[in-house]
Amino acid sequence: MNGETRPKLVQESRKIPPPEGYVAKSYVRGREAYERMYRESVERPEAFWAGVASELEWMRPWESVMEGDFPDFSFFRGGRLNVCANCVDRHALGPRRNKVAIFWEGENGDREVYTYLQLHREVQKFANVLKKLGIQKGDVVSVYMQNLPQTFIALLACLRIGAVYNTVFAGFSPEALRERIVDSKAKLVVCADVSFRRGRTVPLKENVDRALEGVDTVRAVVVYRRGGVEIPMVEGRDYDWDHLMREASPDCPPEPMEANEPGLLIYTSGTSGRPKGIVHAGGGFLVGTYAYTKYQLDLRDEDVYWNTADIGWLTAHIFVLVGGLACGATTVLYEGAIDYPHPGRLYEMVERYRVNKLFSAPTAYRMLLKYGEEVARRYDLSSLELFASVGEPLNPEAWEWVHRVLGGGRAVINNTWGQTETGGTPLASAPGAVEMKPGSCGVPFYGHHLDVVDAEGRPVPDNTPGFLVIRRPFPSLARDIFGDRNRYVETYFRPVPGTYFTGDSAVRDEDGHFWVLGRVDDVINVSGHRISTMEMESALIAHPKVAEAAVVGQPDPVKGSVPVAFVILESSAERTPGLETELAEWVVKEIGSFARPAAVHIVETMPRTRSGKIIRRMLREVLQEGTVRGDTTGLEDFDAIDRLVESLRNKPGI
Ligand code: PRX
Repeated sequence: MNGETRPKLVQESRKIPPPEGYVAKSYVRGREAYERMYRESVERPEAFWAGVASELEWMRPWESVMEGDFPDFSFFRGGRLNVCANCVDRHALGPRRNKVAIFWEGENGDREVYTYLQLHREVQKFANVLKKLGIQKGDVVSVYMQNLPQTFIALLACLRIGAVYNTVFAGFSPEALRERIVDSKAKLVVCADVSFRRGRTVPLKENVDRALEGVDTVRAVVVYRRGGVEIPMVEGRDYDWDHLMREASPDCPPEPMEANEPGLLIYTSGTSGRPKGIVHAGGGFLVGTYAYTKYQLDLRDEDVYWNTADIGWLTAHIFVLVGGLACGATTVLYEGAIDYPHPGRLYEMVERYRVNKLFSAPTAYRMLLKYGEEVARRYDLSSLELFASVGEPLNPEAWEWVHRVLGGGRAVINNTWGQTETGGTPLASAPGAVEMKPGSCGVPFYGHHLDVVDAEGRPVPDNTPGFLVIRRPFPSLARDIFGDRNRYVETYFRPVPGTYFTGDSAVRDEDGHFWVLGRVDDVINVSGHRISTMEMESALIAHPKVAEAAVVGQPDPVKGSVPVAFVILESSAERTPGLETELAEWVVKEIGSFARPAAVHIVETMPRTRSGKIIRRMLREVLQEGTVRGDTTGLEDFDAIDRLVESLRNKPGI
């Protein structure tokens, strides 16, 4: 051992200064400005958060900016505001009234455009629809729809009257939907008749009917007719969106809400067990997401901004529905798959709307990479100046490709780190201020005190892996797990007392950049060597034949655990004999012999969540048990497991 504690990924990092053209348009310019603003924001967080909050509209001033500590804290106590009024009215009643809020495209090419003023009118109408159906402040409304303007209208209407919305991803099965409706005690469901995904028609209303069998808390279902197909309607329970909207008054004043009252609820999977209903305070979520969106994307009035996230995931709420609209952004909203009906669909839309800020997921960027440079070259992408991502590691190879091919070598790449629980992204490049490092998650956001600690909660030196924790509350941090305060306290505040425990491991390097290495349970300890699955995956993806890789630990009596790799090849790559061994050797070459995979499995498919993340837990179960026994409701494609088991049986790897 040479005493080197940095993962290889960190050792190999290079620094890229923010492009000059971008710096001029950034809210914070240069490292010094970032350092000063950051220092002030953590030394006097009250002043920082009060400054952000005062850019928004309040109906009654707050009595105190921050109070209490984990797990009982509040922000802007006593202050009253309305999230919808801040996202819509603030613009619709001012000079932005005729600015486009949403350019929407359906997968089949349908298009709609909404200005802030139009949105204002529709939202008020739907708010009145909700009221007429008996929905009151504090009631939970389930929204089971794909990316549509009407989905935004429904959610904003909930925020307007103080109902708590719960979006359920439109790809979830009836079982998963039922579980969420029951757990949240939803009183009303809003859905589309169908959604279009990769040319297929997904029967959302039919799924709702199945989910509601035997559920008696739901008193009404409102159906938006996206596909206009024949669907059975239950008399006295089901209502037609258009019909209700025709009769609704376009005047509904926003409900004044105390800043800490619940605003939204979203379910996320834990490592095991039933999904957790993460509760966000409306006011806290608004202030936090407004700040993240403004500073991390440098949103300006002239921008055309497209975040490809599905409204079923919190990213779309952080950076579009609440954060984006609070900033008065012009956003692109798209219903379907970004490579449908052809691999250039995303590029085609970037070209059509002259999108200059694009936010997507690492897996989407890797998919574009896999389709190749030639597809990208067919379109005019010169408008693009910022690419952001969140949700999983953005490996340096994908980073470099996006930077070079999509960004023409002159764009900002902003790999942000966040969680459903953090309601935002406490780590991100400060674009225009801080140098970028491919693979890193950037630097702490203003007002956030992050640290890397050991199992006893002691800070570890720079360049040493440890647990990522957050030392102080911030406005958008989840306030509860719905109906299970105890689980909230135990999961997030028990592991390292005095901190919020992220469950991720990370390294802070000598420049203050954080490198998130993966979930704590994704770190494999082989013979006392700590290996991040992300680091191994990143090494594998750098192999010219590899498109996607996932590495999991398998218990080993001698070594504690050993890494096992699952690999999907590039479509053009030839599966030569002995390729598995070659890939194992490749990892050895890239990282060291201690990281040699015990097995490499070349597979056609992997289990993924509906947001595209590979579910490593299921890979582990397939390895150890030959099948998956745990919760599978988060799976995108249920056949993936069978095909995986089959391919392991036929081709045992090395
Ligand atoms: O492990 C981290 C990983 O995704 C987890 C959070 O997932 P989710 O709740 O679905 O968050 C959605 C984002 C609002 C984290 O605990 N993760 C997120 N971003 C990154 C990441 N891992 C590595 N690099 C990232 N940039």
